[in-house]
Amino acid sequence: MTKANKTVAVLGAGVAGLAAAKTLNQYGFDVTVHEARPELGGVWANNYRSLCVLEPKWVYGYPDWPWPSNTPLYPPAQHVRTYLSGYAEHFGIRDRIRLHSRIVEAAPTDDGRWRIVAETDGERESAEYDYFVMAPGMFNLKKIPNWPGQDTFEGQVIHSSEFRDGTQVAGKKVVIVGFSRSAMDIAVDIVDEADSLTVLHRSIRWPVPEKILGLIRNHVLLFARWPTHFAPPWIRPGKIARFLHNKLQGGVNFFWKFFEILLSAQFRLKQRDLVPDRPIKLDLFTNLYIAPPRFFGLVGEGRIGSRNSEIESFEKNGVRLANGEFQPADVVLCATGWRHDYSFLPAELLDKIYDQDGMHLYRHMLHPALPGFAFVGGVQGINSATLFAMQSTWLARLLKGEFTPPSAEDQLTEIEALKAWNRAFVTERPNRSQILNLHQMPYIDDLMDDMGLEKHRKNWLADQFVPYRSADYAEVTATANPR
Ligand SMILES: Cc1cc2nc3c(=O)[nH]c(=O)nc-3n(C[C@H](O)[C@H](O)[C@H](O)COP(=O)(O)OP(=O)(O)OC[C@H]3O[C@@H](n4cnc5c(N)ncnc54)[C@H](O)[C@@H]3O)c2cc1C
Ligand SMILES: NC(=O)c1ccc[n+]([C@@H]2O[C@H](COP(=O)([O-])OP(=O)(O)OC[C@H]3O[C@@H](n4cnc5c(N)ncnc54)[C@H](OP(=O)(O)O)[C@@H]3O)[C@@H](O)[C@H]2O)c1
Repeated sequence: MTKANKTVAVLGAGVAGLAAAKTLNQYGFDVTVHEARPELGGVWANNYRSLCVLEPKWVYGYPDWPWPSNTPLYPPAQHVRTYLSGYAEHFGIRDRIRLHSRIVEAAPTDDGRWRIVAETDGERESAEYDYFVMAPGMFNLKKIPNWPGQDTFEGQVIHSSEFRDGTQVAGKKVVIVGFSRSAMDIAVDIVDEADSLTVLHRSIRWPVPEKILGLIRNHVLLFARWPTHFAPPWIRPGKIARFLHNKLQGGVNFFWKFFEILLSAQFRLKQRDLVPDRPIKLDLFTNLYIAPPRFFGLVGEGRIGSRNSEIESFEKNGVRLANGEFQPADVVLCATGWRHDYSFLPAELLDKIYDQDGMHLYRHMLHPALPGFAFVGGVQGINSATLFAMQSTWLARLLKGEFTPPSAEDQLTEIEALKAWNRAFVTERPNRSQILNLHQMPYIDDLMDDMGLEKHRKNWLADQFVPYRSADYAEVTATANPR
């Protein structure tokens, strides 16, 4: 991988694609972005009315692009859209984005370049680039399960991504399938408009409150370094984590038990029959979800019904559950998550990097079998905009030759080690190889080490205990004099 003035095709103009395009452009690459939708922003472009960022604005954002001062603490989606288009405008990438342009094929050529076939406004065109960076998102294609009898149902089945506001379900009996953030957000959003509302869950996860005991914002824990030492150790654990897990395992278990007790009490999980199925230590690496503040209270008041069961089959006017109960329904809303479509990559290449656990890439971005290829945004962290900006900087510096990646053999060894680590810790699910959550900080530390930059951005005490904000990495993602 070499120097500047090379051409790059970027797939997607969501948070990740924009970060990649801005950074590569800043480093002198000639960037073209293909975005399938009519607007930029990805998941923030066109979504339900109550959607807002889960984290305070200090921790969700591009490090070198501050939010306007009038932005609410938890920015609503329309503020995110303005923020993202401002970013594209300010950093000169707006003109480089082709909207309505879906990449349908991306394949390496014999001379080491990438041939990209895109369908733009119905017209197919092909062009060659030096590099191909994909940023298609991990929560992009809706997943709707197939249930027996669905064709006999006289009501409507919609996915969370098709939901906009309560007028769609006014006066209707609604069953929501799923028990993660989309399900809960939508339940809270429609509770006043639906005639009846029941949420179905096949598994119960630990909720993270916006404020612990209603007092302390969760970012004080999620974005500080010290709690990461208590998580199941990262693939290369640091000194403190090694000490805690080798010498003070009892203390570590107590730490998590303490949180289980605290969260149970705060959300009254026992009284609401919503005690999670697994220890919190494991949930940290599956669906860490931040509960919308009103959800559990509305369940407690009985305004949102909750059933720990699954749909067994559809009937004319509702659904039959696995526990035998019949739930009348006019609308079944599937907040059942997402699937991935990487079919634009040749099947024989995809086989090398993708399996039932998700993508397996070096630093979650590269693979020795695919020279000139990178994935930005292929990880689930806890503040994606910052994370994707850091990935983009790492990638741009690597392509500029500012540091050298390990040999192909060492990259493959690292990929295999991470695969084994994931399988040991993370419950089976389609993207388990791509989940960082609390390990986001050690991952960013690895990127900083690779770039030869100082990963500890504060003095020793603050580095452990003061939450990291996006702006702590501003010098890194802006080009001038990073430290
Ligand atoms: C409803 C929702 C809310 C979320 N809220 C938060 C949050 O508060 N905090 C947080 O940290 N994370 C959140 N996430 C995670 C979220 O995925 C990221 O925050 C982030 O916005 C994802 O950015 P992305 O660019 O990787 O993906 P996306 O936003 O999905 O963007 C991918 C883009 O690629 C385009 N694309 C895909 N395939 C092609 C193709 N073949 N050709 C051309 N274009 C293509 C898509 O049209 C899309 O615009 C949320 C996810 C969802 C679904
Ligand atoms: N900013 C925001 O406010 C906001 C809003 C929405 C989403 N998000 C983020 O977006 C990401 C995706 O969240 P999401 O809620 O859309 O999806 P998700 O986290 O993948 O949750 C999907 C839910 O559906 C359940 N499910 C899946 N298949 C099912 C089936 N066949 N039958 C029954 N249940 C099934 C899952 O159960 P299992 O757990 O058992 O698989 C899970 O409860 C998360 O990172 C989330 O934090 C953020």
